[in-house]
Parts: sequence; structure tokens; C-alpha cells
Amino acid sequence: MSEPVVDVRDPAVLDDPMRGYDRVLAAGPVCRARLPDGGEGWLVTGSAEVRAVLADPAVRNDPTGLPGRGAQTQEEAFLALGTPPEHLPYLRASLLSLDGAEHTRLRRSISHAFGATRVATLRPRVQQIVDELLDGLGATANLLDEYAYPLAMAVVCELVGVQEPDWAAWWRWGKVLVDGDPARITPTLGEMFAYCHELVDKRRADPREDLLSEVVAQDDLTDVDTVALVVFLVLAGHETMAHLLSNAALALMRDPAQLSLLRSEPDLWPAAVRELVRTDGPVQLARLRYAATDMEVGGVRIRAGDPIQAVLGAANRDPAQYACPHKANIRRQASHGGREGNVGFGWGPHFCLGVALAKLEAEVALRSLFERFPAVEPVGEPAWVPLPRGRHRVALEVRLR
Ligand code: HEM
Repeated sequence: MSEPVVDVRDPAVLDDPMRGYDRVLAAGPVCRARLPDGGEGWLVTGSAEVRAVLADPAVRNDPTGLPGRGAQTQEEAFLALGTPPEHLPYLRASLLSLDGAEHTRLRRSISHAFGATRVATLRPRVQQIVDELLDGLGATANLLDEYAYPLAMAVVCELVGVQEPDWAAWWRWGKVLVDGDPARITPTLGEMFAYCHELVDKRRADPREDLLSEVVAQDDLTDVDTVALVVFLVLAGHETMAHLLSNAALALMRDPAQLSLLRSEPDLWPAAVRELVRTDGPVQLARLRYAATDMEVGGVRIRAGDPIQAVLGAANRDPAQYACPHKANIRRQASHGGREGNVGFGWGPHFCLGVALAKLEAEVALRSLFERFPAVEPVGEPAWVPLPRGRHRVALEVRLR
């Protein structure tokens, strides 16, 4: 097997992840790489190839039982990362760890809450939270911590059924998990699982108008399944959301032409959100997957058991798919009816379940920010968090005018 041509932990990639992958794309849509865990695998960067692997039932999230080199049970992979055995059942039950019928069963148990019609009913409440947060901002602010995080946290927690006094703990837990220090992750996961078990018991005893109360009423889910769902939803619903808002706000502050287009044609806001997810999406890498059979992707032969890392950020800026790929062009999306290959929310069976909610929040939050503060501008150059998986800023300091 050939040597890795790229290391996704390379500072040149981390400092500007999108452009860092240009040279990888130039080498072809599939190449050998050193992956975030330090192991070797296949990096898939081409737009068509990323969609093909994410939609292929022969590409699995759970490597358990796969033949060939690189195959490891999911348990072994987690244990190798220092996960205590008592955490394994929750990690195994997480949506992104499951394939096939088991994944479909768990996803179906909550999908009714994320359909476009039900999500649309949340618009007035999202607008109210946005307006209150904007009212509370001073002349300067860190938009990430004072606007994006509080909004994302409030919306997903109200939907799931996590009460306001507990939001600060979730914020802290989310940061520990994203920072990735194994010594802090284990106790944090322990706290989260214990908290969620308590919450499950409370909702079973005293149901309310929230998703968790609906889920505990379903009799085909175990408490471990339910805890894993709550953890995943709250984390996915606030971390990625907050960074999408911050990345997109910064991109628009730096693009007066697109902003002025949105002022003259506000109906373009939904298209703007889709395009900003393409150019500035917060999820750089999909979850690591594994080939279940020998296969060919982008002309490259991949063996059963090999790890496959799809790079969403690179696929979304693939010149084979997009003319001037680094340029946000709101009309590009509008004229293609929306999807045209954008993998910022993933693709295939694990396509983001929260997509309608994420789009609604982003549209309301960004539009309201720029309407209230038409001349809002960044102060200084916001630094990147050096993470291979996410495209996150440390903070977004702005002057509000
Ligand atoms: C309200 C906010 C959100 C919620 C509740 C949410 C929820 C979820 C859930 C439950 C999944 C797993 C789906 C499955 O395995 O069946 C998922 C996957 C995903 N989400 Fe979201 N999400 C949210 C926001 C976002 C945002 C803002 C982005 C990025 C722009 C994003 C990107 C993704 C991606 C890329 C995946 C697929 C990962 C993979 O296949 O490896 N999500 N999301």
C-alpha cells in the first residue's frame, strides 16, 4: 500500500482547513492519509466520491466483524482510545455508531420531531430567543459565546426537554468533548450519562411537552438507547449549530456584495444559509467509516476493513463540482434548487436529522443580526481551533453598529 500523502493533523491543513485540502484534491479524489487518531486510511475528498461512499451500504460506521486489515471491533476502537468499559453501551447505541436496521429503528424513534412541518412551528419561539439575545448585546460582543451558543443551546434543550439551569453544564461538557483531552472526556461522559439517566426517570414519572417525554413513552427503546439519543441530540444541536452561526456571520461580514444582495432580496436568506453551509460549514470530517467489502472509489481500490475518512469540507469546495468553489455565491444555490451535492449536513442514511431546524435557526439568527446591526464588523482576526474534525473559531469578537 502506498505511503500517506497527507496528515489531517498537519498545521497547514488545520490553519486553513478548506484551502489545506486544495493540494489533496489536486492529487485526486481519494488518497492515503494519516487520520485524526494517528492511524492510516483512505481520505475521500472529491464531491461525487464523498457522496458515493456516504450512501453506500457497503461502507459501514461500525467495523465490528469486518474482514481484512484495519478491521477492529467498535469496542476495541473505543477501548484503545481509553474509554472505560462501562461507557461502551452508550457509545455503541449512538446514532453515528450504528448501521442498517438498528440505525433506522433508533433514528425513526425521534425523526417525527425534526420534520419540516413540525420544525416550522418553532419559528416564533426561535425568533423570540434571537430578539432577546440581540437586545442584551453591548457595543462589542463575542458573537460565538454571547449569541450563537446561547441560541443553539436554548433551542435544542427546549425541544429535547433539558431545563435552563442545566444548560451551563451541557456547554461545559460539549467543550470538553470537542477539545478531545482523553483525561477529561471520561469523567465528563460519566457525568453526562448519569445526568441523562436521572432526566429519563424524571420525564417518565412526570411527562412534559418535550421530545424526551415522547421518547420515554415508546416501549421499544431501552434507557441506554434513550440516554444515547439525548446526549447526541443536545451535543449535535448546539456545538455544530453555534459554529455554523459564527462561521456564517463572519463570512457575511466579509462579503459586502452578498450581504447587499440579501438586503435587496431577503427571500434569498434560505439559499444563503445553504451556500454558507457549503463554504463555511462547521463539520470538516464525517465520522470515520470502514469498507465492508473490497470496493473501488474514484478509481482507487479499497480493501474490506480499510478505514475511510470522507472530508465534507473538501468535497464542498471541489472544483469538479463547483465553479469558483471558494467563493460563496448565493444565487448558485438558488439556481440549483438547493441540494446539488452539498454535503455540509452529510449524505446518505446518516444525513443530518436536524437539518430543517439548523436551517431555520441559521436563517432567523443571521437575518435578524444583520437587520438589527447593519454595519456589524469583526474585531481582529478570529483564530481557528486546531481541530481536524471541525471548522471552529475560538471566538468571534465584533463591533455592533
Ligand atoms: C439543531 C441542530 C442539529 C441537530 C439536532 C442535529 C442532529 C443530527 C443527528 C441526530 C445526526 C445523526 C443522524 C444519523 O446518524 O441518523 C446528525 C448528523 C449530522 N449532522 Fe447534524 N444536527 C444539527 C445541526 C447540524 C449542523 C448545523 C450541521 C452542519 C452544518 C450538522 C451536520 C451534520 C453532519 C455532517 C452529520 C452526518 C455525520 C456523518 O454522517 O458522519 N448538523 N445531525
